[in-house]
Amino acid sequence: MKKIVVLTGAGISAESGIKTFRDSGGLWEEHRIENVATYDAWLRNQELVLEFYNQRRKQLYECAPNAAHFALAKLEKKYDVQIITQNVDDLHERGGSTKVLHLHGELKKSRSTVDENLIYKINGWELKKGDCCEKGSQLRPHIVWFGEAVPNIVTAVKLSSKADIYIVIGTSLNVYPAAALLNYVPNYIPKYLIDPNGSEVAGIRNLTVIKEKAGKGLPELVKELTL
Ligand code: OAD
Repeated sequence: MKKIVVLTGAGISAESGIKTFRDSGGLWEEHRIENVATYDAWLRNQELVLEFYNQRRKQLYECAPNAAHFALAKLEKKYDVQIITQNVDDLHERGGSTKVLHLHGELKKSRSTVDENLIYKINGWELKKGDCCEKGSQLRPHIVWFGEAVPNIVTAVKLSSKADIYIVIGTSLNVYPAAALLNYVPNYIPKYLIDPNGSEVAGIRNLTVIKEKAGKGLPELVKELTL
């Protein structure tokens, strides 16, 4: 079976009603990264950080996967599909995809602040001050904040280098190290970028840019690849 590796960003969940970060009206227009998405912010004001992610989580419970998530699940009938996502939502899993690597963490999970290996599923939408891990320390959102290491990048690089086909969907390719993954994809294999604002990427060969929303562009591409 041929291996398709898919790198996704906030754009694939936009049609499910989840705001992207850098589009006009995006999350980083309403909130300052340094106040809600860094370890310093957490040290300064845990309530504010918890509340920011509680609101994201609450919203996620009201959202459902869209045609793009379902199309990726369908692709598994014919290919070995590995998704690498920058998204912290669970819409790929709920859409039926079975192999999903989360680069930036998962909104519905929490993590101990004294032992990073202690990761828990959050019951409901709220993580509160006073919610503790089994070692008695405050739980934090299981999110990779700006300035923190991205542990899954090593696996993502290996997966990217072994792809037969590579598809990038709905990411501004602004945030590293995720944005550099394309550099590890073999030169000669076919690559697709689906994003209404997509453009050629410097130094990347064999790239077809599909300037469509994921909900339209991806089902069309999946149809073509599964003919
Ligand atoms: P961005 O908000 O930077 O980029 C979203 C991309 O989605 C843009 O290129 C849009 O053109 C595109 N887009 C919008 N609507 C779309 C649609 N319906 N279909 C397809 N594409 C669409 O989001 P990311 O690149 O995912 O990290 O951001 C990367 C990381 O920065 C995030 O994981 C997050 C953020 O800060 C952390 O929080 C650690």
